[in-house]
Amino acid sequence: MIRQRVFAWALARFNKRYEQFAVKYKENLFADLSGVVLEIGPGTGANLRYFVQPGIRWIGVEPNRFMEPYLEKEAKRLGIQIDLHTGLAHELPVSCRQDTGFTHSFSGLCVRKCLYKGTA
Ligand SMILES: C[S@@+](CC[C@H](N)C(=O)[O-])C[C@H]1O[C@@H](n2cnc3c(N)ncnc32)[C@H](O)[C@@H]1O
Repeated sequence: MIRQRVFAWALARFNKRYEQFAVKYKENLFADLSGVVLEIGPGTGANLRYFVQPGIRWIGVEPNRFMEPYLEKEAKRLGIQIDLHTGLAHELPVSCRQDTGFTHSFSGLCVRKCLYKGTA
């Protein structure tokens, strides 16, 4: 519990330098997103700024509840609605073989673009 709390605090506190480095890559990666975006493990919400365009619905799955206040604060700052769920990615009630309705899903700090070009 304390480890999760410290992790959330440290991520919020010390991630800025990495984000400054990554901004040009992330801007490129996320430039053409639309529809329903699933972020697995959004942490403190460092990626939310890339999802402010109208037409994006952001859903996050995050197991660490201590990330929530940071995520909510960032969403409020950006003026966007978020749909945050507490849990683990592998417990999601969907499989890769299903048509999930997600247009994109990714997991960062090993950000991958793609995955379900679906129906949303
Ligand atoms: C290194 S942090 C990265 C946070 C954020 N994506 C970023 O780029 O700043 C990894 C995040 O993944 C979450 N996580 C770890 N295992 C997970 C799992 N099985 N399912 C969903 N999220 C997970 C952690 O709680 C943490 O918030």
